[in-house]
Amino acid sequence: MDEDSIYKALDLTMPWAVGLVITKRENKINVCPVTFQVISSIYEKPYVVCIGLSNTNYTLETILKTKEFTYAYPSIKQLKDTLFSGTVSGRNMNKISKTSFEFTKASKISSPHLNGAIVNFECKLDHAYRLERFTIVVGKIVHAQFDRYKKIEKLQKIYALGDFDYGVIEKINVIQSSRT
Ligand SMILES: Cc1cc2nc3c(=O)[nH]c(=O)nc-3n(C[C@H](O)[C@H](O)[C@H](O)COP(=O)(O)O)c2cc1C
Repeated sequence: MDEDSIYKALDLTMPWAVGLVITKRENKINVCPVTFQVISSIYEKPYVVCIGLSNTNYTLETILKTKEFTYAYPSIKQLKDTLFSGTVSGRNMNKISKTSFEFTKASKISSPHLNGAIVNFECKLDHAYRLERFTIVVGKIVHAQFDRYKKIEKLQKIYALGDFDYGVIEKINVIQSSRT
């Protein structure tokens, strides 16, 4: 199978959830949206977040230096700021100052939580596997933050739908509620 058809086949795996990697370096907060991400299942411990970051990415450089990051799922209300953050690098500018993102101190690491996100995971770097053009970062989740008293709108995450379309999943049809 050639690269072109693999590209087309990958499109069939969408929608992909959009996550936001939050880092802090010398007191500067930076954010980087990612779709190359997977979160561990509830069945296997330790709980981890795996993200694929381009080797030229400032966020990768920061994580390798600070050994920690926050991984958040921004809500659909944060769509514009999330997408904007993926078009500029924190290496050259303070991108947060151009967004309305607000943050709260985390409990176990120095990168903060994103206010208004569906959930924030505090992660400590466990492994970094460098490949040709990107690095798979595995972060062990040391703390999770979400609003226990609010109805959690888990489908209000941002999804990449393909062709640079982004949206929410409005309706799910439950077909079966058990494994047998
Ligand atoms: C929706 C979206 C998803 C993205 N997914 C990834 C990704 O999975 N991995 C990656 O390295 N870059 C991804 N990018 C690009 C980075 O967010 C972008 O290069 C960003 O400017 C890097 O910022 P930094 O240099 O401050 O870390 C994505 C961008 C957008 C808008």
